Amino acid sequence: MQRSKEALLMQGIVLEAGRRLKDAFYSQVGYDVKPDRTLVTALDVEIEDFVKRAVLEWFPDDGFIGEESEGVEGKSGRVWVLDPLDGTTNFIMHLPFFAVSLALKEKGKTKCAFVYNPVLNELFWAEKGRSFLWDKEIRAGEGLKFAGICYTNITPCLGYLKRLGERGIRVRKFGAASLELCYVGWGRLDAFVGFNLKPGDFEAAAYILKSAGGLVEEEDGLLIAANTPKTLEEIRALLR
Ligand code: IPD
Ligand code: CA
Ligand code: CA
Repeated sequence: MQRSKEALLMQGIVLEAGRRLKDAFYSQVGYDVKPDRTLVTALDVEIEDFVKRAVLEWFPDDGFIGEESEGVEGKSGRVWVLDPLDGTTNFIMHLPFFAVSLALKEKGKTKCAFVYNPVLNELFWAEKGRSFLWDKEIRAGEGLKFAGICYTNITPCLGYLKRLGERGIRVRKFGAASLELCYVGWGRLDAFVGFNLKPGDFEAAAYILKSAGGLVEEEDGLLIAANTPKTLEEIRALLR
């Protein structure tokens, strides 16, 4: 598939960002706790700075929303949405589930998106309604056997987890929402539920999942992703 110049630029940027994260993966990394209780390292800030500079140098009229810095409004109607390190806790604990996540939105619609896990060297991306893992096109699966979940506070999830267990549905929590959404797009998970996610956590991966045939809905801080409309309906019922 012929890629846009934005997609080619994004790929170069996320691969370089991933290389920096992988180089630091086995080091002891200090961190701070943010007011929302999520963690931040110097790498989060360094990578956000690198990506922001790179995209705004190429497209100075575009806007930018990142997890670690002031947003840029822009005047082109386009906005880049970044999480420089999704899964910071895993990164700090040397668990290989974290990613750089970057999306480009134009007039509210996602144009292209990348999610890259540098340790597993898995590059998920989508453009023009098609999704890929590197060069291999991916499709969401069928059925409901494996469900992903991410939450900061477990209390509101207890009933849902109990009902999943009663149905014999196995639950996995990887600690990086962007990857978990891509995993639904590739059939590693059948569904995913996330509470109080930020745009950087899901904008890129939601587009990747939808372009792989899956579904995503987000309302009032509850995000539900599923491989098919039937699974989406089942998850909604299990959440009630
Ligand atoms: C977090 C991860 C985690 C989710 C949190 C997010 P961060 O992002 O995606 O899985 O449960 O809500 O904040 O802080 O590692 O970028
Ligand atoms: Ca995140
Ligand atoms: Ca982050």
